[in-house]
Amino acid sequence: MDSRAWDERYAAVDLVWGGAPNRWVAREVAEITPGRALDLAAGEGRNALWLAGRGWRVTAVDFSGVALDRGRRLAARAAADTAGRIRWVRADLLEYVPERAAYELVVVAYLHLPAAARRRVLRRAAAALAPGGELLVVGHDTANLTGGTGGPRDAEVLFTAEDVLADLAEPPGPSESPGPPGARLERVRAERVRRPVAQEAGPPKDAIDALVRLRRTP
Ligand SMILES: C[S@@+](CC[C@H](N)C(=O)[O-])C[C@H]1O[C@@H](n2cnc3c(N)ncnc32)[C@H](O)[C@@H]1O
Repeated sequence: MDSRAWDERYAAVDLVWGGAPNRWVAREVAEITPGRALDLAAGEGRNALWLAGRGWRVTAVDFSGVALDRGRRLAARAAADTAGRIRWVRADLLEYVPERAAYELVVVAYLHLPAAARRRVLRRAAAALAPGGELLVVGHDTANLTGGTGGPRDAEVLFTAEDVLADLAEPPGPSESPGPPGARLERVRAERVRRPVAQEAGPPKDAIDALVRLRRTP
């Protein structure tokens, strides 16, 4: 989907993903001391708003102007200092190059791109980590096609935790090194996780997510 299609989707429904932060983001980040955070594909900002509410200074990037405007409006209604802690950036992640070694946390939640584009975005995301910083990647797992519910029904844009690890493990190319020379990414978690989702009819079904949490060596 291009930015126009995402704008249309956001314009049609308020809070497409709900107002609460993604459960994996909330679970994994709860114990991390707030610093600077980068939220790539931030959408309407549910995760950025939650992070800012906990004291993080957040750069929230997305190519949907409609989603970012909604995020700004939500921030304006939140506690007084929350809005001031979020910088909203409209950009295409295929072009956007974040500041290197600048963030204690980088979140990429439910960004589904073809493999080559995903690799490019994730390697830039990793390069944006400050020493000791953490990268959290969450998305609909490929297994969702056969055993789960929700998310894109296109295997080309789904991924597994192993795909993410492979994206970041490849030897660095000239312009997309996953980090400064000597920096390594340590695995905190790389797994498949299940998330119960209410159904219109019948009992809840599990969505299957890929969850990867990595820490840059100090
Ligand atoms: C499923 S939503 C997830 C939003 C948010 N991360 C969340 O969890 O609530 C995917 C988001 O990716 C954004 N997106 C997709 N491709 C993009 C690209 N090339 N550049 C910037 N944003 C993109 C869309 O606009 C959309 O907001």
